[in-house]
Amino acid sequence: MDFPLPYCFFFLLLLLLPFSSNGQAHSNISLGSSLTAATDNLPWTSPSGEFAFGFQQAGDAGYLLAIWFNKIPERTIVWSANRNDLVQGGSRVQLTEDGELVLNDPSGRQIWSSPQSGGSGAAYAAMLDTGNFVVASQAGANLWQSFDDPTDTLLPTQNLNLGAQLIAPYLEKNYSHGRFMFILQTDGNLFLYTTRYPTTTVNYAYWSTQDSIGSVYRVVFNQSGYMYLAAQNGTMLNSVFSNSVSMQDFYLRATLDYDGVLRQYAYPKTASSSRRWPMAWTTLPNFIPSNICVAIRGPVGSGACGFNSYCMLGDDQRPRCKCPPGYTFFDPNDERKGCKKNFISQDCDHPSQEIDSFEIRDMLNTNFPYTDYDDFLSVDEDWCRQACLSDCYCAVATYNSGHCWKKTGPLSNGVTDPSIGDKALLKVRKGNWTAGSSAKKSDRSTLITTGSVLLGSSIFLIVLSLLGIYVFFTRWNQQKQKVIPPLHVMPEMNLQNFTYNELETATGGFKEELGRGAFGIVYRGALANEDKPLIAVKKLEKMAGEGDTEFNTEVKVIGRTNHKNLVQLVGFCKEGQNRLLVYEYMSSGSLSNYIFGYSRPSWHRRMQIAFGVARGLLYLHEECSSQIIHCDIKPQNILLDESLNARISDFGLAKLLKTDQTKTTTAIRGTKGYVAPEWFKNLPVTTKVDTYSFGILLLELVCCRKNFEINAIQEHQIVLADWACDCLKEGKLNLLVEEDEEAMEDMKRVERFVMVAIWCIQEEPSLRPGMKKVVQMLEGGVQVSVPPDPSSFISTI
Ligand SMILES: *[C@@H]1O[C@H](CO)[C@@H](O)[C@H](O)[C@H]1NC(C)=O
Ligand SMILES: *[C@@H]1O[C@H](CO)[C@@H](O)[C@H](O)[C@H]1NC(C)=O
Ligand SMILES: *[C@@H]1O[C@H](CO)[C@@H](O)[C@H](O)[C@H]1NC(C)=O
Ligand SMILES: *[C@@H]1O[C@H](CO)[C@@H](O)[C@H](O)[C@H]1NC(C)=O
Ligand SMILES: *[C@@H]1O[C@H](CO)[C@@H](O)[C@H](O)[C@H]1NC(C)=O
Repeated sequence: MDFPLPYCFFFLLLLLLPFSSNGQAHSNISLGSSLTAATDNLPWTSPSGEFAFGFQQAGDAGYLLAIWFNKIPERTIVWSANRNDLVQGGSRVQLTEDGELVLNDPSGRQIWSSPQSGGSGAAYAAMLDTGNFVVASQAGANLWQSFDDPTDTLLPTQNLNLGAQLIAPYLEKNYSHGRFMFILQTDGNLFLYTTRYPTTTVNYAYWSTQDSIGSVYRVVFNQSGYMYLAAQNGTMLNSVFSNSVSMQDFYLRATLDYDGVLRQYAYPKTASSSRRWPMAWTTLPNFIPSNICVAIRGPVGSGACGFNSYCMLGDDQRPRCKCPPGYTFFDPNDERKGCKKNFISQDCDHPSQEIDSFEIRDMLNTNFPYTDYDDFLSVDEDWCRQACLSDCYCAVATYNSGHCWKKTGPLSNGVTDPSIGDKALLKVRKGNWTAGSSAKKSDRSTLITTGSVLLGSSIFLIVLSLLGIYVFFTRWNQQKQKVIPPLHVMPEMNLQNFTYNELETATGGFKEELGRGAFGIVYRGALANEDKPLIAVKKLEKMAGEGDTEFNTEVKVIGRTNHKNLVQLVGFCKEGQNRLLVYEYMSSGSLSNYIFGYSRPSWHRRMQIAFGVARGLLYLHEECSSQIIHCDIKPQNILLDESLNARISDFGLAKLLKTDQTKTTTAIRGTKGYVAPEWFKNLPVTTKVDTYSFGILLLELVCCRKNFEINAIQEHQIVLADWACDCLKEGKLNLLVEEDEEAMEDMKRVERFVMVAIWCIQEEPSLRPGMKKVVQMLEGGVQVSVPPDPSSFISTI
């Protein structure tokens, strides 16, 4: 996107204006001075203008007396006086003749005052360039300083003294005190605690420095971004953060965020051509704890998220709170309040009559520690399921290698993480909580009315049996998948036709981006139905004005697919220039993040994913009503649902862009590395291009690394496909899975998978197997012969 030059200047001017207008530095603030809370009131700034002290509006709720970074558009707050008691416009802060800072609301009621700064020879106050606001004596001694009274943030040169603490804000933009605390205890240990919200007493310590021999004096946060425990003489005893950042180029802060994680942030002071514009705060690589979801598991309290919810690290390593199936957020605007059950609990007076009304939902790698009331050894998973189903106390059971724990509500410390070996078996009432029940119900009642009109005639019996079949299939469908209630339904399909406004509301104005792909940006949203099902909304680019009927046709084709290894299309929007597709939301993110992330998923799980992708592709190629060639199979396009099933996304879109592709012959739809060679030779595109991409993906799954790894230890390992062929030829397949014990014990299967993959990536398309054969070979149903070298048979056509 290029803007004409004059616009750029105008833009810069807009950015610079506010800084220059209040840039006049108040060096010394004399006794008797005051500030009034109003939108146009200028704050007291530091000599450099980088920090300001004054009133900041906190949403519509009122004003905060605060200190903030004054040269960045965000005006990030680093300290505040009245976080739990916002004041209204017209409130005033005064530096009294005694040298005390006093905040009064418009009626004159005192809201806050600076402790112990008055009456002992105070001469002036000053906002310093470090971000410290001081009340000083004539001799320059600090009688009071904001650095001694931190809220949730430390700045470089600000130390945390024995007994001092940071308390997290409640939410990102709600500054009142929240649920987490960072404290240097008088015993010399540094802790992160959950609090017993809404009080600020400490509860569970989820991080601490190892016992540091008692001689700790303070936590030092120095100008290079190092944070450590220091003795009185200044020697470093124990390091907390060791990030090295130049204060000349960056603003720095360490903040205990509302999610309980202590993070260091850096913000470039000036834009440079190499940096992405606009500038923003970025998190430095070290933060504590590294995985808050698993770090908090105390016997009292809800864990990192609220009761009845569970915590999962997102792709950005930040925690997300989610509701298990059958549960919804108490308050969608405050996900940390936890979730509520969306169904009526089992009737304890007649548990046996109700067993059939409940079902178990599997949640892999999930646990809810500390709510057990019973446990059993040497049982199998099925036993565990039945035991929970037939026990009205049981809300969820967790199962791990023969061990079954029964748990009762409210569920606490919920977490889903690849490091967790347990499987949670969640008990939910069948049917009712799924979306769509109300819409179906009204359909049913019209049928019943029709039925009663015909009462008495023999047709009634036929209608009755049809009704029975209809109800049976509706139920059956509801149990199989969540059906989103159709509002304006496309005939023959369960596809909802959304208005642009509806989707704008559902996504909160297209705010939370889930990812970007070849077709546009995907946003997270939630429908307005009673149980607020989450959705992913894909805003198609390049579609404007073109291919109206084509869009309809393709949407119909996509909408008609239904397979457990595909991401289901829920609806679409076609309004003016806008083309949007609405999909079910896949809570576990993309395969790419899953296999190339921090910890390696188990071999067993990777195998299941390979089967899933292969079956999904087989369905697209051979089993659905019109054949779909995906053309862009890669780990980014494979998503994982909450049970970590592989779900292919973005299928059926290749055709939508076909018109574009013929126009620009260079536009290749696939992604480098996964693209079959015939793409480059203008040969016809067949399902075999997907086979090729699947082969590369299969190798990546086996080895848990990317096909291209430029930092590979040895040169011949840079391209995985080549290296795998070498290993197979030399009989050294163990090199591919060297650190993976589970795979090492299953070398027969590793060999079979690698051979299948190499068959798939044959350069000659006709040598590659179809997906049906691939599935059979992977499952071991047919023998796999040793594949030739992929480039040995290139057809010369
Ligand atoms: C502020 O006042 C103190 C004490 O009167 C004085 O030493 C200092 O130089 C003043 N600073 C500025 C920037 O005027
Ligand atoms: C912040 O959250 C607390 C706790 O839910 C609430 O009482 C308070 O009103 C909120 N403050 C603002 C400004 O929204
Ligand atoms: C900050 O502390 C670290 C570790 O002690 C030290 O290497 C670094 O030089 C310090 N930086 C400054 C500016 O003092
Ligand atoms: C500083 O204090 C620590 C602990 O109190 C002690 O081990 C160390 O020797 C002292 N270093 C100096 C230079 O005094
Ligand atoms: C079923 O859902 C409806 C709302 O659609 C709710 O009023 C009713 O209480 C639910 N019934 C059960 C048994 O959960």
